[in-house]
Amino acid sequence: MEAYILEKNGGLENLKKTTLATPTIKAGEVLIQTKSIGINPIDIQVRSSKDILGMITGGVFHEHVILGWDVAGIVEQVGDGVIAFKPGDEVYGLLNMPGLGSTYSTKVVAQADQLTHKPENLSFTSAGATPMSAMTAWQAVITLANIQKGDKVLIHAASGGVGHFAVQFAKERGAYVIGTASGKNEEFVRSLGVDQFLNYTESPFETKVSNIDVVIDTINSVEHVLRSISVIKKGGRLVYLQPHFAEALSAKLEESVVSGLGVFVNSSGKVLTEISTLIKAGKVAPKITQVFQFDQLPDAQAAVESGRATGKIAVEVK
Ligand SMILES: NC(=O)c1ccc[n+]([C@@H]2O[C@H](COP(=O)([O-])OP(=O)(O)OC[C@H]3O[C@@H](n4cnc5c(N)ncnc54)[C@H](OP(=O)(O)O)[C@@H]3O)[C@@H](O)[C@H]2O)c1
Repeated sequence: MEAYILEKNGGLENLKKTTLATPTIKAGEVLIQTKSIGINPIDIQVRSSKDILGMITGGVFHEHVILGWDVAGIVEQVGDGVIAFKPGDEVYGLLNMPGLGSTYSTKVVAQADQLTHKPENLSFTSAGATPMSAMTAWQAVITLANIQKGDKVLIHAASGGVGHFAVQFAKERGAYVIGTASGKNEEFVRSLGVDQFLNYTESPFETKVSNIDVVIDTINSVEHVLRSISVIKKGGRLVYLQPHFAEALSAKLEESVVSGLGVFVNSSGKVLTEISTLIKAGKVAPKITQVFQFDQLPDAQAAVESGRATGKIAVEVK
């Protein structure tokens, strides 16, 4: 099989495409022929930092560090005890989070309970780019914030991977949704169904909104998340995507009488199956705005690293 190994932490030049032996599967596992890979900010964070790599692997040694967690593909082999899947099935999933998912590869081993069947109305390309962002948005909107009909919800980076799913889930729940992005993404964010669009480059969001029930803050900045708390009404909820911000936020949360809920997404075939139900019903859809080929995978990482990606970026494996 072909795979990108991370030779050492650092820049894109450390992703090296190489040929490796196809891994063997154990009981409860499935071997997937990769058709599509999703690229996420965590891929870049783990590539760049030895500390973050150590955190995600829990210090477990890997002969080859292969990045990537999102995948869609075709089941090639199933291990003992796997009953939900058979060779030929079309599947997708977020693999081994926390841990190494190793999806930057033409074949990948997955735990069967981290996969689900790919909806027929989702192409492989779209399916590969869906799991991490959609499952993170699900945890934020449904599991943690439990957004209800009529809630006034502010979603930052509504144009991003997580944000564009969060908008769709919150609208599906019947919330009044305000989405932020820069002007170039206004049309995209409005197409997701937001009730109000805020261009964060024109004016600070806190001068435009107040008395919010729930803020979903995807921005990797403590200062930004503290500003978000200031627009939430007493008794409201803040969902933030950088769980290590907890300590820095606690005093302001307490003073504002706001609940702070940190997200850490985990692999789960069960959650992805629930999301698939909405996708099959045509109620939610990933928006793929850039597609790269396997040979161009470092370019796909560069596009995500820019921080300016719209919707999702996918890598096809032919
Ligand atoms: N805790 C977890 O389990 C978990 C899981 C997944 C992701 N995350 C984290 O969540 C964050 C977001 O992930 P993602 O995949 O959604 O990222 P992404 O797709 O790369 O986000 C890019 C988008 O962010 C928008 N943006 C950037 N700065 C903004 C600002 N100040 N205000 C409003 N929009 C802004 C950009 O829009 P413009 O170009 O218009 O500015 C762009 O469309 C990352 O830090 C990621 O590591 C955490």
